[in-house]
Amino acid sequence: MDAKDAEDPDALAEFFERALDRIAGGYPRAFAEAADEHALRAENARFAGPSGELTRWMKRMPELPAERRRELGKRANELKQRLQQALSERIEGLQRAAREAELSGPHLDVSLPGRGQPIGRLHPLSQTRNELLRVFSAMGFDVADGPEVELHEYNFDRLGFPPDHPATDMQDTFFVDVAAGDANAGGAGVGAGDDGRASVLLRTHTSTVQIREMLRRKPPLAVVSAGATFRRDDDATHSPMFMQLEGFMVDEGVSFSQLKGVLTAFLRRIFGSDLPVRFRPSYFPFVEPGGEVDMGCTICRSYQGHDGSSCRVCKGSGWIEILGCGMVHPVVFEAVGYDPERYTGFAFGVGVDRITMLRHGISHVGLLYGNDPRFLEQF
Ligand code: PHE
Repeated sequence: MDAKDAEDPDALAEFFERALDRIAGGYPRAFAEAADEHALRAENARFAGPSGELTRWMKRMPELPAERRRELGKRANELKQRLQQALSERIEGLQRAAREAELSGPHLDVSLPGRGQPIGRLHPLSQTRNELLRVFSAMGFDVADGPEVELHEYNFDRLGFPPDHPATDMQDTFFVDVAAGDANAGGAGVGAGDDGRASVLLRTHTSTVQIREMLRRKPPLAVVSAGATFRRDDDATHSPMFMQLEGFMVDEGVSFSQLKGVLTAFLRRIFGSDLPVRFRPSYFPFVEPGGEVDMGCTICRSYQGHDGSSCRVCKGSGWIEILGCGMVHPVVFEAVGYDPERYTGFAFGVGVDRITMLRHGISHVGLLYGNDPRFLEQF
């Protein structure tokens, strides 16, 4: 017969008593076998929780015969207290054991260095570009920007490249297929090719910024601009995407000696005050006279008396070609609406990749575009 069904108060009292004995005999072992606090609390709930065995019995105390209620009630309350006491002792015991296990277990070495968060930094090309821009800013040049996707007209035509001139072969590039009149092509018909399409390309040099800035502003002006340029080249020292820095100055009476002074000061600022610099005549359609600048090889440093005869970078010559320059051609002034009788100017273009490679002794330009952290980490 189940206790719930006991109608007779005397029988209920007997069940009640037996239940107290059962619980009193059961909990010590149940508590002792609980492996952790969670299991222990579950065991405790089985006896003393809201629907635990003892709790359920105690709810029936009013049904006990009056003469036994007091005694049995007292025993039940005492048992409840013993359970509570045993529970907290066992919790303490479990916690003590856990602490002891932790103390006698493997060491937590708080002096071990943590796992560091790698800190990012600017790409070596960006570092060099920023430094070059700073040098020219300090000389009074403004910094300008120009788009990488450019009109054929600004990249070649207005710079005095005759149509289909062989010089454009030196700067073979990537053309962009844009319908004539596309907003990005600068308006309908601008630079339109024979097929009526705007002739748009990835700029082959930053000289495009000369045209853009001169169209936008009036002399006097001194401007530098750096950014990505593109050509169909790919070898140890040429990447199809590379970075140039362009500079130019236009005013009345700007002279070639000023060009020489600015470029010599610039190169010595970057590579050292004892750097030899020489100017050679060369051809670019947008300058007259045009020149190229060589500087002493900073890899073998033969100009400092080292033996550079077997240097692979300058091929034993002691010189490295570093930039193109010249006096702005009158056709360029005409193309931007400046009076070529009144104004003169100089312009130059320098490879930021090349300067970066020379500064750090990097042998292959591809490293600058490979994004290998083992390489980039070194700067
Ligand atoms: N734009 C030329 C080049 O990329 C360099 C240059 C710039 C030459 C300005 C003269 C004047 O080869």
